[in-house]
Amino acid sequence: MCRLEGRRPVPELVHLQGKCVLVTGSTTGIGEATLRLCVAAGARVMMHGRDARRASRLARELGRRVRISLGNLAEPAACDRLIRATIRAFGRLDGLVNNAAVTTRSDLETTDAPTFDRIIAINLRAPLLLIRAALPHFRRQGNGVVVNIGSVNALCGENQLLAYSVAKGGLMTLTRNLADAHVKENIRFNQQSCGMQVSPDGSPSKTVRTRKRGSTNWLNPPGSCDGK
Ligand SMILES: NC(=O)c1ccc[n+]([C@@H]2O[C@H](COP(=O)([O-])OP(=O)(O)OC[C@H]3O[C@@H](n4cnc5c(N)ncnc54)[C@H](OP(=O)(O)O)[C@@H]3O)[C@@H](O)[C@H]2O)c1
Repeated sequence: MCRLEGRRPVPELVHLQGKCVLVTGSTTGIGEATLRLCVAAGARVMMHGRDARRASRLARELGRRVRISLGNLAEPAACDRLIRATIRAFGRLDGLVNNAAVTTRSDLETTDAPTFDRIIAINLRAPLLLIRAALPHFRRQGNGVVVNIGSVNALCGENQLLAYSVAKGGLMTLTRNLADAHVKENIRFNQQSCGMQVSPDGSPSKTVRTRKRGSTNWLNPPGSCDGK
C-alpha cells in the first residue's frame, strides 16, 4: 500500500517524479485520492471534474503542480478538449487515469434508451475517446500508460446496477483489447477493478454507511445520471 506523506515523493511511487498525469473525475473520491498520490510522488497532474468550486479549493491546497480542466464527459468533444488542455499545460502526457463515472441505479425496467446511452457515454465511451485522443501523443513520446478504473460489477453486477455493470464490463474488454493492440508501441493499459471503497480520509463514506442500513439511496437514483 502506498503512503501519503504531504507532497514528498514516497518510495513506492518514485517513478512518477516529473511525470505528467491526467486523472478524470479527480475532484472527489477515488480520483481525488489518486490525484493526491500522484502529487505526493512528484508528478504534475491535470485535475478534472465538473465542480469548479471543489476543483479550485483542491488545487489551492495542492499547489502549482496541479492544473484544472473542467468538462462534461457525456459530450464527445469534451474528451478531445481535455487531452488538448493537458498537452497545452504540460507539453506532454505520460499517464491517463480514466476514473470519472456515474454510479446510477438501474434495473431492466428502469434502463430505458436515454439512461443506457448516458451511462455508457460517460463510463465507457469517454474513456475510449480520451485514449484515442491521447494516442498520437503517446506515440510521439514512444510510451504512455493508461489506468482504467473498473469495478467488480464488470463480472456480473448488482441487480440494481444493470447499465453501470454493462459499462464496466465493456471497460474491462476495452482495457484488455488495447493492452494487446498497443503492447509493441510501449503503451501500457491496466485496469483497477475496485470493490466498495471508503472515502480518502479513511472514514466510512456516506455511501457505505447508508448501504449498511439496507437503503439503495447510496446510488444515484434512476433517471439522474449525474448524481447532482
Ligand atoms: N466508490 C466505490 O465504492 C467504487 C467501487 C467500484 C468502482 N468504483 C469506480 O471508481 C471510480 C470513482 O468512483 P468514486 O466513488 O470515487 O466516484 P465519485 O466520488 O462519485 O466521483 C466521480 C467523479 O467523476 C466526475 N464525473 C462524474 N460524471 C461526470 C461527467 N459526466 N463528466 C465529467 N466528470 C464526471 C465527478 O466530477 P464532479 O463531481 O466534479 O462533477 C467526480 O470527480 C468510478 O469509475 C467508479 O465506477 C468506485
